[in-house]
Amino acid sequence: MLADEHYLSMKILVIGGGGREHAIIRKLALSPKTEKIYCAPGNGGIAAEGVECFDVSATDIDGAVKLAKQLKVDLVVVAPDDPLVLGMVDAMQAEGFMTFGPKKNAAVIEGSKVFSKELMKKYGIPTAGYEVFTDSASAIEYIKKQNTYPTVIKADGLALGKGVILAQSEEEAVDAVHSMIDGRKFGDSSARIVIEEYLTGPEVSVLSFTDGKTVVPMLSSMDHKRANDGDEGLNTGGMGTISPNPYYTEDVAKECMEKIFIPTINAMNAEGRTFEGCLYFGLMITPNGPKVIEYNCRFGDPETQVVLPMLETDLVDIMTAIYEHKLSQTDVKWSSGSCACVVMASGGYPLSYPKGLKITGLDGRGQAECCEVFHAGTKLSDGEFLTNGGRVLGVTAKGLTLKSAIEKAYSAVAKINFENVHYRKDIGQRALKAVPFDPLDLDYKQDMEDYIEENGVYLRQ
Ligand code: AMP
Ligand code: GLY
Repeated sequence: MLADEHYLSMKILVIGGGGREHAIIRKLALSPKTEKIYCAPGNGGIAAEGVECFDVSATDIDGAVKLAKQLKVDLVVVAPDDPLVLGMVDAMQAEGFMTFGPKKNAAVIEGSKVFSKELMKKYGIPTAGYEVFTDSASAIEYIKKQNTYPTVIKADGLALGKGVILAQSEEEAVDAVHSMIDGRKFGDSSARIVIEEYLTGPEVSVLSFTDGKTVVPMLSSMDHKRANDGDEGLNTGGMGTISPNPYYTEDVAKECMEKIFIPTINAMNAEGRTFEGCLYFGLMITPNGPKVIEYNCRFGDPETQVVLPMLETDLVDIMTAIYEHKLSQTDVKWSSGSCACVVMASGGYPLSYPKGLKITGLDGRGQAECCEVFHAGTKLSDGEFLTNGGRVLGVTAKGLTLKSAIEKAYSAVAKINFENVHYRKDIGQRALKAVPFDPLDLDYKQDMEDYIEENGVYLRQ
């Protein structure tokens, strides 16, 4: 274990290069204990913060270890799923580095859906009923026997967030099975599949800090996964987020802690797979109580972009406390109010889109007034920001109320542009409807009247 004074001037290497990593870096940079931050591979917005970025891919474990040694860093934060599932944390620890992120044997909670479903079944953690298949004939026989639609078909392994198909008919379900198992749509990731019960209810994302002994849920959030307004169009990595999520009431939070969060941490310990880092619970608040839709072994993207700006506690302190298994001694505090993030994407995303388009409306540091702009797919070229990915920017604002946070974020979005930009206009609207009455909002009386007129009833969430 390292002495506490070691943490006074930390050199930190962050692995990854999206909006999530930018949000982590901005928070780490606020710590008086941070001396220097490096990133691999990083992006234009991260580089514009004065963070030195290195052209090492996030999945290049040997390259990342070599870089950490060369830079003599004190802490390595591994943010994306692939390097965690491949064992980058194990490789860094083998070289003596302090790390943030789970080891390979714990990252499997995201790396294999079959593993996570079996874990939940074994330890009685609420989730959708399911069966596992490795041959298409048995899977199809099962689908025909069940004969209930929609049904949910999931690739076992990582599939860039695209490995879940909600099949509306037998035909769609059979197609999905053939393409995954026989066509290896996601390579080896879809050699095994899970077929599970379709659940309904609002979705809530809860990221948590855990050292394997203590679990500290962060503020809840709500993702908007579909590409277009009204939750239509293709599934994406996430087009925007808000925090906190109004469906995550105190009662729901208590139930999740007792039935899901603590049992999961205990289950991982019992399996000899202690989880250390950020464990993400993707939940659905069903009529029969909260259930786990998925676990992620890392910070969510773009959930992190609305959760970390609300964190008041020093993130370096939290990460070092987790490494030392002393999280119980850290008081993790959050701002009041709300936060909203609107993702500005390239037209065509999540399918094909051009790169290299000039972005206007950002200042020299890639930021905008009243907001934090988290860069996801950008590069800096001769002092200009160019698009370099599907999700380009996450424009994020805090407000006393959710409504003011959303308005602020959209007012900044309106001033930023690139050719064929696409963003959703309705981020947070569903959440606003869940809490029409917000006493901090000066317009609340009008909001309430509008809501009652539209919905006929008013239910406090
Ligand atoms: P995942 O990639 O596992 O987060 O799944 C993508 C999306 O599919 C989730 O955010 C849900 O909206 C939906 N989904 C996954 N599993 C189920 C389920 N059992 N019932 C209903 N919807 C689901
Ligand atoms: N926003 C969902 C995820 O990070 O997987």
